[in-house]
Amino acid sequence: MSATRKRILVTGGAGFLGSHLCERLLAQGHDVLCVDNYFTGRKDNIAHLLGDANFEAHRHDICFPLYVEVDEIYNLACPASPIHYQFDPVQTTKTSVLGSINMLGLAKRVKAKIFLSSTSEVYGDPTVHPQREDYRGNVNPIGPRACYDEGKRAAETLFFDYHRQHKLRIRVARIFNTYGPRMHPNDGRVVSNFIVQALKGEPITIYGNGEQTRAFCFVDDLIEGFLRLMAASDDVTGPINIGNPVETTVRELAETIIDLVGSRSTLETRPLPIDDPVQRCPDISRARNLLDWEPRVPLDTGLKRTIAYFDKLLTERGEISGKRAKLKA
Ligand SMILES: NC(=O)c1ccc[n+]([C@@H]2O[C@H](COP(=O)([O-])OP(=O)(O)OC[C@H]3O[C@@H](n4cnc5c(N)ncnc54)[C@H](O)[C@@H]3O)[C@@H](O)[C@H]2O)c1
Repeated sequence: MSATRKRILVTGGAGFLGSHLCERLLAQGHDVLCVDNYFTGRKDNIAHLLGDANFEAHRHDICFPLYVEVDEIYNLACPASPIHYQFDPVQTTKTSVLGSINMLGLAKRVKAKIFLSSTSEVYGDPTVHPQREDYRGNVNPIGPRACYDEGKRAAETLFFDYHRQHKLRIRVARIFNTYGPRMHPNDGRVVSNFIVQALKGEPITIYGNGEQTRAFCFVDDLIEGFLRLMAASDDVTGPINIGNPVETTVRELAETIIDLVGSRSTLETRPLPIDDPVQRCPDISRARNLLDWEPRVPLDTGLKRTIAYFDKLLTERGEISGKRAKLKA
């Protein structure tokens, strides 16, 4: 094996972000081991990689120890959307906490560098905007989102304690809303929801008045951020925000998607769910300075690629007529 070719473990590798990461690592010539329990991940997401001799997929729940020899670990395993992580909240916390302990233990044993996909949810419903990494957050520890938010906060604690106590080389990324092909069609997240509703010509459901803002990062930009963080010098531990600082209101997003799909969908409002943050936007100065990274893909471009993905998926499933979305040039 060449000095630059690494053995890399990606947990949650059959999920939305994990499958894109595996793809990029393989393209760089690495030997990739994807580990997933397929709770929210899908074999379809990695089917196109199975023919690559450098790719291996292994069904495993990271709440249990794993013994493999690797040089780097990307720990992405964890359901990410509220309907998925609230389905079995105890398992969600276990995945973040026990899963991180197992992966950190593995990293310690084999002296691997290890990356955590943390989240902007560690900021909870923030009282400062935009969020910088030194903001300590406003999280409800006993609410329905706590299994995810507090699970990730505990995972960050574990990463930094392993770093201080055992000198582990760690990287902690705080990911903000990301979208792109291979998102789940039914995960209740705003981009996938709106696209699926627009393609089906159903009313687009907006929670609250739609004036809450979100900042959406296209998956290719995000993965580039992951790779740069992992490749950075060992004193760049993070936490580091990776996301797109361009804010859009949820209503604007809905209108843009209706327009790009050429859909006849109307807008319908519903009450805001409990603990739903009103505004969230990353301050990415740290990523800009330390990684020379910032998002490059404009929202329109990313949405077109995501719409094309869902159009194909829903057509294959017979959920829409097969008439391709008329994307505006
Ligand atoms: N997509 C986003 O906008 C976003 C934002 C913030 C943070 N993140 C984080 O990024 C990571 C990936 O998110 P995603 O959007 O790809 O979600 P996803 O649900 O598509 O992927 C998560 C993957 O982890 C697997 N998994 C879950 N529990 C597991 C366990 N115990 N053992 C092994 N595998 C397990 C799932 O089957 C799935 O393949 C998560 O850690 C998530 O918290 C994502």
